[in-house]
This record gives sequence, structure tokens and C-alpha cells, in this order.
Amino acid sequence: MKRKTIKDISVMKKAGKKISMLTAYDYFSAKLIDQAGVDIILVGDSLGMVIQGKENTLQVELEDIIYHTKMVKRGSKNALITADLPFMTYQADTAEAVKNAGRVIKAGASAVKLEGGREIAAAVKKIVEAGVPVVGHIGLTPQSVHSLGGFKVQGKKKESALKLFEDALILQKAGVSAIVLETIPAQLAELITEELEIATIGIGAGEHCDGQVLVYHDLLGYDDQFKAKFVRSYADLNKIITGAVKDYLDDLKGEKFPGEEESYYMEEDIFNEVKKELTKNGNN
Ligand code: KIV
Repeated sequence: MKRKTIKDISVMKKAGKKISMLTAYDYFSAKLIDQAGVDIILVGDSLGMVIQGKENTLQVELEDIIYHTKMVKRGSKNALITADLPFMTYQADTAEAVKNAGRVIKAGASAVKLEGGREIAAAVKKIVEAGVPVVGHIGLTPQSVHSLGGFKVQGKKKESALKLFEDALILQKAGVSAIVLETIPAQLAELITEELEIATIGIGAGEHCDGQVLVYHDLLGYDDQFKAKFVRSYADLNKIITGAVKDYLDDLKGEKFPGEEESYYMEEDIFNEVKKELTKNGNN
């Protein structure tokens, strides 16, 4: 199987085939989700929260995305790799945006994702003109958490819904190849999905999007303290991992680990000779 391209994603939209996107940040997570058949791996700036333990994504650096993209590239063979451009690496200056997109592509991604609507259209256009596919991201855009007043559902009112709809059209015109719709009403996501020629990929945006994206750690149930309404966890790794570590500690403290099967041995006669030598030298 050869690696998927952004063109394959457009073909899937046209054929009405559901598109799967999942985040990954390292070699093994990328390898496992790639083997499972995910279409797009997103090296998301959510790594600021789930890898670095920060309260939001704002402190993620371009270097962090580059570092994790390289690992994901080594771990995967089939999925299209899309990587986020972090906060303030594309907003201020379109030339800077193109340069930073190029660095992420050199690290192994085949597309970059940018958050925002009409205000980033110029940057999108320039990056696309430079030959780099761009994925848009509107709705709850975590890089704007301060101006949005927190992690809240977007587009619930008429004005904000119409603005998001227009933003989607503007981004499509600017050249995005697909667009993530995050935490918006399902009805609005359906209208946008029907209108756009490019694929919509939802997270907290209902069932009618062309595809869905989840964060790896949410899908696998790492966090037992917090789960957003839109998350469905397919495993309880929190319980599995802490249970496994407790079993290990019990075995270790109860002198059940390591056992014979986890140990190496030398030939008996060699051991006897070593012992004899050491005894002769007064060592034992
Ligand atoms: O950073 C990320 O993981 C994302 C997804 C939640 C869409 O942007």
C-alpha cells in the first residue's frame, strides 16, 4: 500500500467514503494507528496538553511539531501525515507562514493545518501557492482560547453560525484541501459539509461531516479525570496501565520478578571455574 495523498482524501469525499483522522505524536502510536488503517495522522498541537502536560496549546513551538513529525513519519507507512502550524507561526506574516510550513513538510508531513477563518486566508493562499496542501480548522480553535473566552461551543447563534459558514467558503476559495470543524452544532456542520466541495472533518461537530478526528489519548482513555462530551473512548488505558504497573510493583516487591524465565545463565562448568578462581583470589 502506498502512502495516502491529499488527492485521495478529495476522492473519498466525492465517493461518500468516511474519512478517519487521528492524532499521533511518536513512532509507536503512529505505527499502531497506521497498521489499524487510519487515513490521516495529525501531528496536532494538542501535544502541548497530552504530551507536555500544559493547560492549552499556546506554548507549542514549531520545533516541537518538527520533532514529533519526524517520529510519526518513521512509524507510519500508509496514512497521510498532516501537522499543525503552532500559534504565532503563520498569523503575523505570510512569508513566515510559508517558511514555517516548508520546515514541517521537510520533517515529513504532506500537509499542514492552520486554525482560523478569513483572517488567515492570505497565509493559506501563499502556502498553497508554494505547493503545500493546507487543512483548515474553524469553530473552536484552541489557539484562540483566550479570545473565545474558553473551550466553548461555537456558532450557536445566527450571526456566529453565518460567519463560520462564510469562513468555510473563504478558506475553500483560498485553497484549503479539507477543513476541520471543531465543537460546532451538528446542523451547522451538516450545512457546511453539503456546501463545500472539500472534505469536512469533525470533532464535536456531529455525524454529518465527511470524516471525524479524535485525539489518540482520548480515544484510548488515558485521562480518568476529564472527558469532553464529543469524545468516545474505545479503551480504558488509564486503568490498564496503572493496573499493569501495580502488578509489576507487587511482583518486584514480592520477589516474583525477575524469575528464571527472565534471567540469563552461564554453563554450569564455566560458573564453577569462575567461582573457584574467585575463591582462590580470596574474593568469595
Ligand atoms: O491539535 C489537535 O489535535 C487538533 C485536533 C483536535 C483537531 O487540532
